[in-house]
Amino acid sequence: MKIQTIIKQMTLEEKAALCTGASKWSTTPVERLDVPQMICSDGPHGVRRQPDLHDDIGQESLPATCFPTASCLASTWDVDLIRNLGEALAEECIALNVDVLLGPGVNMKRSPLGGRNFEYFSEDPYLAGEMAVNFINGVQSKGVGTSLKHYAANNQEFQRFSISAEVNERTLREIYLPAFEKAVKQAQPWTVMCAYNKVNGTFASQHHYLLNEILKDEWGFEGLVVSDWGAVRDRVAALKGGLDWEMPGPQERRVKEVVEAVRSGALDEAVLDESVRRILRIVFKAAETPKSGDFDVDAHHELASHIASEGMVLLKNNGLLPLKGQEHIAVIGRSAEQAHFQGGGSSHINPTKVAVPFKELQAQAGNAELTYAKGYPTDNSFRQDLIDEAVTLAQVADVAVLYIALPTFKESEGYDRTDLDLTEQQVALITAVSAIQPNTVVILNNGAPVAMSGWIDGVAAVLEGWMMGQAGGVAIADVLFGKVNPCGKLAETFPLKLADTPAHLNWPGGAGEVHYGEGIFIGYRYYDAKEMPVQFPFGYGLSYTTFAYSNPKVSATNFKDVDGLTVTVDVTNTGDIAGKEIVQLYVHDQKSGLVRPEKELKGFAKVDLQPGETKTVSIPLDFRAFAYYHPEYKRWITEDGEFDLLIAASAADIRHSLTVTLKSTLDLPCILDKESTIREWMADPRGKVVFGPFYEMMESETRKRFGGDDNERYGNDGAIGMDVMEMFSDMPLVSVLMFQKDALPMHPEDMVAGLLQQVHSESES
Ligand code: BGC
Repeated sequence: MKIQTIIKQMTLEEKAALCTGASKWSTTPVERLDVPQMICSDGPHGVRRQPDLHDDIGQESLPATCFPTASCLASTWDVDLIRNLGEALAEECIALNVDVLLGPGVNMKRSPLGGRNFEYFSEDPYLAGEMAVNFINGVQSKGVGTSLKHYAANNQEFQRFSISAEVNERTLREIYLPAFEKAVKQAQPWTVMCAYNKVNGTFASQHHYLLNEILKDEWGFEGLVVSDWGAVRDRVAALKGGLDWEMPGPQERRVKEVVEAVRSGALDEAVLDESVRRILRIVFKAAETPKSGDFDVDAHHELASHIASEGMVLLKNNGLLPLKGQEHIAVIGRSAEQAHFQGGGSSHINPTKVAVPFKELQAQAGNAELTYAKGYPTDNSFRQDLIDEAVTLAQVADVAVLYIALPTFKESEGYDRTDLDLTEQQVALITAVSAIQPNTVVILNNGAPVAMSGWIDGVAAVLEGWMMGQAGGVAIADVLFGKVNPCGKLAETFPLKLADTPAHLNWPGGAGEVHYGEGIFIGYRYYDAKEMPVQFPFGYGLSYTTFAYSNPKVSATNFKDVDGLTVTVDVTNTGDIAGKEIVQLYVHDQKSGLVRPEKELKGFAKVDLQPGETKTVSIPLDFRAFAYYHPEYKRWITEDGEFDLLIAASAADIRHSLTVTLKSTLDLPCILDKESTIREWMADPRGKVVFGPFYEMMESETRKRFGGDDNERYGNDGAIGMDVMEMFSDMPLVSVLMFQKDALPMHPEDMVAGLLQQVHSESES
């Protein structure tokens, strides 16, 4: 009511101005009507609050906790922890006078080369969606808003302001949209940020189908859509397309354009009013939470350390870890002294403090002697002297701990990676050190997979430390010395080499377009389909203990899609220290109308177990766990049939499989048309009734005519050496009839029209 009254009192100029920022980070206030300003800041894994709202990257932002980036967050698979992170971020927003935090980012990792992959959760839409929901719920539970970004298909940095992601409807619906969909439906972020790029030829900032039809109408998004910074090309088209708030501002020219468009009749004022309504709703909502006070720097640093230790993934361990009783530890690698804990670009945080990995190691090393060598330079030059120095140290130590950080010139927002490799120097360093020191541990700090096949066999252990946040140095020490038992599992596949990756032949595009030629087959969906070996599969991670899975059960073996079902399994810690296991549930459809991935993640659970302890894990599956998006029905459909439920420790480690039978409750409309093939007619239940008798006649006529049954004369293959009926099956019915039109009582087109009339009238009745 209040909002409608305000809109009525606003001038056209005020409305247009409200739809464009007043600064780099704030909305335009309307003082005479008591409409306050609303301030946003990056995001996602820390608050980047610029002291001056007119500055974006010139000054250092106010100190805030730098939490681990999304690759690490997703590897925790811990929804409660992500919620806690959200709450902590909101506390910092409140203290730093921020109303809306620009995150989380939920774009899919289409290729490991994506420069911003460190800011995104996963190659799997289900996992990314779960992370996003809990992140948003955490932040928003404290009265601070979020911005779900970048909607949609923003999966690369190459030409990110202009390139068109050419992606088909099914792929969008099954891979690139579900994380957004789940977050919107289950957590209602206050804002959604559109992507820079085009999607199928139209800028995401003016994409009526994506913004108005799908996001707002279909999913019921109640908040406002904000542009990515500088993403709007045509302000009026963007308003029509569903983009409410353009950022950054101020932009006098844009305001004028909108005013003139309304005056000339080119833009309906009702469209502008709707955007104004959405913005005002969020502005007033934000104002309900007073912003002031401090946040608990130490507690948040500790939380950052805890999250990092849960997200780190132990990739290899020949038994050397956890370290115990070593007297001399050679610490090698620049990032032991200068922690590499975040990525470059808009998410870059000015941390409250930074844990130095070397010092944290020293603090836990007891009486052991620690020595240090830099190992590699800051730039891409090759320095044999640094390698020689490291080898000399490693040779006389009991263990060599190598801290290897992927440099920012190889990974950042703004540009994609060109390869999956560490620097030449880093590879040479690992190889040289591990050649003389069998007890070599490699700790990686990077935001996305690196290739390891050149060096991994020579080392004793590898810990994926990610961009671990400001307290990550503590977490590494905790894991190395066994204070924390590692439990993280990969939220993305580590391939053996770049040429193996799903988008390889279609990356990064050119001439204004990038074709998503691999379709729904990204990440493990691709490696499964190609039966391709990988370095480390999706969902993989080691622990210092072991887990056994037993007693798998399902609540019903025959079930209706809408009822869903629940899978339970007992998990036992079979080792002698406490640990956490991440149980994954994948669904495999035995037979489907359209091609489907071999398996898809549809549920997971993380369980904390003392030595010898057993707990029952319970994972529910709903309609969507079994459905796929059918582009012709334009909806998610289920099909009757058998599904395998795969209870797994990783995508490549399936512990149990249960088979269930689904009964679809859908009454799908008939989608046969004049181009439908014979096979499609016979597959459609109504089509089969109407066309079936004719099909039988046709089959016997065809066999007679083409001699397929006349074995004496032609053998099995008929007069023209083929199974003609098989060829006919995938031809449109009308085309097949055309070949036989002289034998038919009416023209084939009329005949098909008649059949169609029958099926469609039956489907209506
Ligand atoms: C990034 C966004 C970010 C915005 C504001 C853009 O360049 O793509 O993720 O929130 O800048 O800094």
